[in-house]
Amino acid sequence: MTPPTFAPGRLLYGGDYYPEQWSREVWDEDMRLMRECGVTLARIGIFGWAQVEPRPGEFEFSSFDEVMDRLAEAGVGVCLATMTASPPPWMAHLHPETLPVREDGVVLHPGGRQHYCPSSPVYRRYAIRLVERLAERYADHPALRFWHVGNEYGVHVALSYSDAAADGFRRWLQQRYAMIDELNDAWSTTFWSQRYDDWAEIQPPRIAPAFANPAQQIDFRRYSSHALLECYLSEVEVLRRVTPDVPVTTNLLMVWKPVDFHRWAPHLDVVSHDSYPDLLDPEAHIRAGFAYDLMRSLRDGQPWLLMEQAPSAVNWRQRNPVKRPGQMRLWSYQAVARGADSVIFFQWRQSRGGAEKFHSAMVPHAGTDTRVHREIRELGRELGELAEIAGTRSRADVAIVMSWPSWWGLELDSHPSWELALLDRIHDHYRPLWQAGVACDVVAPDGDLARYRLLVVPNLYMVSDEDAARLADAVDGGTHVLVSFFSGIVDEADRVHLGGYPRPWRDLLGLVVEEFWPVGDGERIDVTWEEGGVFAADSWTEDVHLSGAEAIARFAAGDLAGKAAVTRHRHGAGVATYVATRPEPDAMAAIVAQVLGSAGVKPVLADLPAGVEASCREGAGGRYVFLLNHGDKPVEVRLDEPMHDLLGTTTSPIDLVTLDTFGVAVLRTQK
Ligand code: GAL
Repeated sequence: MTPPTFAPGRLLYGGDYYPEQWSREVWDEDMRLMRECGVTLARIGIFGWAQVEPRPGEFEFSSFDEVMDRLAEAGVGVCLATMTASPPPWMAHLHPETLPVREDGVVLHPGGRQHYCPSSPVYRRYAIRLVERLAERYADHPALRFWHVGNEYGVHVALSYSDAAADGFRRWLQQRYAMIDELNDAWSTTFWSQRYDDWAEIQPPRIAPAFANPAQQIDFRRYSSHALLECYLSEVEVLRRVTPDVPVTTNLLMVWKPVDFHRWAPHLDVVSHDSYPDLLDPEAHIRAGFAYDLMRSLRDGQPWLLMEQAPSAVNWRQRNPVKRPGQMRLWSYQAVARGADSVIFFQWRQSRGGAEKFHSAMVPHAGTDTRVHREIRELGRELGELAEIAGTRSRADVAIVMSWPSWWGLELDSHPSWELALLDRIHDHYRPLWQAGVACDVVAPDGDLARYRLLVVPNLYMVSDEDAARLADAVDGGTHVLVSFFSGIVDEADRVHLGGYPRPWRDLLGLVVEEFWPVGDGERIDVTWEEGGVFAADSWTEDVHLSGAEAIARFAAGDLAGKAAVTRHRHGAGVATYVATRPEPDAMAAIVAQVLGSAGVKPVLADLPAGVEASCREGAGGRYVFLLNHGDKPVEVRLDEPMHDLLGTTTSPIDLVTLDTFGVAVLRTQK
């Protein structure tokens, strides 16, 4: 059966809507305001379970029926949740075994949300029954646009160490390894007397006196992501059966370590994403850009949905500043520029009670005569006029290679340094691409690598022989690659590829790393370019021996003085660059500029002023260039051809764009 396609034909606009928190008089006002704000989509029912099933097996849908009808009348489509994200209190009361358990044995109780162990067969049984009832009830409702399964899988409980999880883990291991000795081999259990004789002896990696077996830890992460996916798929199975033509999605949270997005993406009819950049991080917009590029890449460039973002402040960081005037609009366009076909907020109306009452909303506590609400209305109006953007796609010549199992392995204990945080290391590489205005995809090591001119490989610690060969073949065929230190070190079971690091890529890189030399906290290492000049590096150095590569920079002092820090090696029709340390940002930008140049990669627009983001989508209507000023002062940007300014007042093409602070331009080439 072909999964339904998702093609809304316009940019969807709306929010999470919780009518159950309000009276019917408020509903009347909501319908009017939604129309006035240009809302086309409401996401309802996410936390509706206790309301529709107040007692086990007794269902009361009448108020959701009414809400669905009213939204349909108001012309607002519904993304209907399967309501399984937060079980009603009766479930834990009747079945305490459904509760999640932490690695130290502490049970997590109801009173918040997501208090279920994903491996619990009892939870799953209740969830499926609810989804069956919901799907049957709303299958033909005119408001229903698509299904939203669960909510942010793994946000609070990603790893549960309950007895149900232990059972599930054992079953999953039996599938993976078939024979217990295969597992013993993969987990290197000859070490520390860990050999298993029977599957029943195996436990999740609960807190142990010493470092838990790393392969066991990684497999438990694989299993835990899989257990969450099983929950999702068990609901999807019902939805496909009852409503085969209605698309299905679930919202992927930020770039979430516990959930292997690459494994999930094939099961989503459209990728949805929740974006909450940290307003106190001066580079939050660059990190968000990476997340959006990942979302777009998960289903091969298919437009994705910005499913949640805050209209202004969140409530859950320790300090929660507001989005400044214009910032919400700017960040919304950033998602659209990088492939989103929607701007959807958490939430429509700011709650009166509960833990999220100080989270911003499209209708704030202070009402409609407010800055946030005015910005919401204005954005709804603008997006309504940009329907032609929906469905358009982007093309990138560069991809960052990223893998979840490698992330899990990289950040384990017992390493040369415990300070390697993958997302920060990716950021080191992504920042210069963003600043240069270069479009970038994010691919898994088993993805289609050869179609890119340049692959960027930040700290891909774990790689299988097959995937390592796929990357080397791509370079052989003409792709260029930039690889950073501590990549290609172990196989899928966290066993070292023997024969000098990184053994699978020694030929590709033309070098061997003999030893890792991590650097003390705050210590700065000087590195000299072969062509003259010095830069600073930190965190990590290595003892690199060249076997074909040329050094383009060398460590300047200490025991590694004169040894290679950055190298280049021709391999077949491509070139492999290796960075054996963590260069300061300007030096990283220089390295990236050099590899972009030699790979022949062009930016969306050259010579962008600092803080200006440029990205591009293309479709039948033309090529759309988005210019976004994240900087603190107005700037001018010169275009390389005259273009139509879709948000501007003039109808004739322009070749110079003035962007205010937080300004946005959406431009279209002349057809
Ligand atoms: C998300 C969640 C929403 C809401 C929001 C607040 O993680 O899906 O339900 O809690 O955060 O920022």
